[in-house]
Amino acid sequence: MQLVFATNNLNKLEEVKKLLPDFIELLSLKDIGCFEDIEETANTLEGNAKIKANYVTNTYGYNCFADDTGLEVASLDGAPGVYSARYAGEPANAENNMQKLLLALENNKDRKAQFRTSICLNLDNKQFLFDGICKGTILKDKQGEKGFGYDPIFQPEGHPGSFATMKLSEKNLISHRGLAIQKLISFLTSE
Ligand code: IMP
Repeated sequence: MQLVFATNNLNKLEEVKKLLPDFIELLSLKDIGCFEDIEETANTLEGNAKIKANYVTNTYGYNCFADDTGLEVASLDGAPGVYSARYAGEPANAENNMQKLLLALENNKDRKAQFRTSICLNLDNKQFLFDGICKGTILKDKQGEKGFGYDPIFQPEGHPGSFATMKLSEKNLISHRGLAIQKLISFLTSE
C-alpha cells in the first residue's frame, strides 16, 4: 500500500519509514510531484493536520497523513500552541521564539507546559485522528545542544534535563511526535 506523509522534513520521513511495516510504501511530497506550499491557516493543530492531509488526498488522490505540533504553556492559556513555529514573528527563528517565551514567563512560578502532536490520516475515504502529548516544564535557561525548536528550554516530566540533552532515540520514545506516530503505526498494522 502506498501512503504519503505530507511533510517536507526528510528527517521526519526517514524516522517514520524505519518504523513502518514492509507492506506500506511511504512516499514524500516530492515523490508524488507536490511542490506547492500548503498553507497552514487553521487555528488548531488538528485543523492544520487536516488541511495538509486533505490537500494531498483531494489533489493527488493518495492515502495520506500529516502532522502538526505545538508547545502549549498552561499559564499562557495554551500559547504559543498552533503558532509555535512563528511565535516571535517572521522569519521563523527558534532562538527568538525561545527568548520570547522565557520573557513571557519571567516572573511566573507556573512553568507547566506540554508538547502536543496531532496526526490526521486519510485512508480509503475515511479520516482518523491521533494525538501524542509530552508533559513537562519550561526551564529558566537553555540547556543542551541537541534537537531543534524549543528543545533547550523544555524538560520532559521524569527526566533530569531538557530535550536538547537527550539522544534522539531516547527523545523519540517519550516525545509527543513519537507517541502520536506509535499510535498511527499500531493502527495501520492492525487494519
Ligand atoms: P511542526 O508542526 O512539527 O512543524 O512543529 C511546529 C513548531 O513546533 C516547530 O517549528 C517548533 O518550533 C516546535 N516543535 C515541534 N516539535 C518540537 C520538538 O520536538 N522540540 C522542540 N520544538 C518543537
